[in-house]
Amino acid sequence: MVYEPKAPVIPYKRTCPFDPAAEYAQLREEDPISPVTFELSPREKDGWLITRHDHIRQIMTDPRFSHRSELLALVHSPPFEVEEYSPEPSAPGNFVRMDAPEHTRYRRLLTGFFTVRKIQQYEPTLERIIDGVLDEMAEMEPPVDLVKVFAEKIPARSTCSIMGVSESDLTALAEHFSVIMRIDYTLEEFIHHNNELNATLERMMAERFAGDPGDDLLGQLIATGELTEQEMFNIAWIAIGGALDTTPNMFALGTFALLEHPEQLAKVRERPELMENTVEELLRYLTISHFGASRVALEDVEIGGRTIKAGQTVVLSLPSANRDPRYFENADEFDIDRPSRRHLAFGFGIHQCLGQHLARASLRIGFQKLFDRFPDLRLTVPAQQVPLRETAMHYGVYELPVTWG
Ligand code: HEM
Repeated sequence: MVYEPKAPVIPYKRTCPFDPAAEYAQLREEDPISPVTFELSPREKDGWLITRHDHIRQIMTDPRFSHRSELLALVHSPPFEVEEYSPEPSAPGNFVRMDAPEHTRYRRLLTGFFTVRKIQQYEPTLERIIDGVLDEMAEMEPPVDLVKVFAEKIPARSTCSIMGVSESDLTALAEHFSVIMRIDYTLEEFIHHNNELNATLERMMAERFAGDPGDDLLGQLIATGELTEQEMFNIAWIAIGGALDTTPNMFALGTFALLEHPEQLAKVRERPELMENTVEELLRYLTISHFGASRVALEDVEIGGRTIKAGQTVVLSLPSANRDPRYFENADEFDIDRPSRRHLAFGFGIHQCLGQHLARASLRIGFQKLFDRFPDLRLTVPAQQVPLRETAMHYGVYELPVTWG
């Protein structure tokens, strides 16, 4: 049986591979807090789509908005028939879908591993990983699919080294995540990959709890003695899943965008000091969190002249916020010289991306080395033929055929 996903309640079809759905520009100007109806919601079916940068930032820092799973409506339907939708509260350790103070307790245990300083200390290892991936790529006979040979490999190998996951477990986990992070799988695919993913993580945790926990990130967390096996399972799920579905898409889509903007690519190649800002601008311009973030109001909240009632879900369109002309001049242009730092590609507030410094360092070093090593890298198909990940939680490309030499 092939699962036919019900269209998400928000616009998601892209006409240009790098621009958010065309509807957002009009919504942002004319109806920035616009009503939507959720088919599946534990409380209110009526909710809102928020498209302006200032409203989204405000909501992301307002404790009257919650991220608790048992309260949130679904932005798109799951791959099975659901008659009654009454989600459970988040399992222990699944801090992404918790509010303070539960969220704070878990997040504090993890932040020390991902600070700017920690990632700076990790950079020599990251460089070695990236050089290794590029050495392997240079041995290949082009054309190659850049997604497979470059974009997926760097985050996979850095996750192995930081979290102490074996390469074979990581390969399996990556395959399962890549299916369940889409919204167009079949029911059978979902069940298979979800079960396999859980079984792999359960085995990994059981081994560590029974024997030597290891001295990597997961091992050090276990050694604190503060976390149960179930909590560790959920933390590992979030941390590994968070890394595997995001940075690869930014690498592949970012390379595609740079190849399609040769004048910008030439500029950053001439002036490598621009690479840091190029990464920020790519994060802003491409905003891979395709369906944005969502929150639910715990009480009635007035915002932008509308009342969001208690129990209503709001979808925060991060792709739209990052094209808001109130914050970014000529927002639809890709311009590596612009100040881009105020983008919301990593979210904002207490749930702001935990892995953002790792993602930034990986992208900065990765793009620099890719174009140093393959200065004449080019697509082997017309841009219109590159397959886009429109029905996935994180936007990107499924394949990027490239050649060189
Ligand atoms: C370019 C790459 C990435 C992008 C665009 C990205 C984007 C985001 C966004 C938008 C959020 C906030 C979601 C919300 O508020 O509802 C988030 C949260 C998170 N990200 Fe990332 N992410 C990236 C890379 C990573 C990496 C490499 C890791 C892991 C090492 C990671 C781990 C997490 C975690 C654990 C959270 C949840 C934090 C919390 O709830 O406190 N992310 N990410």
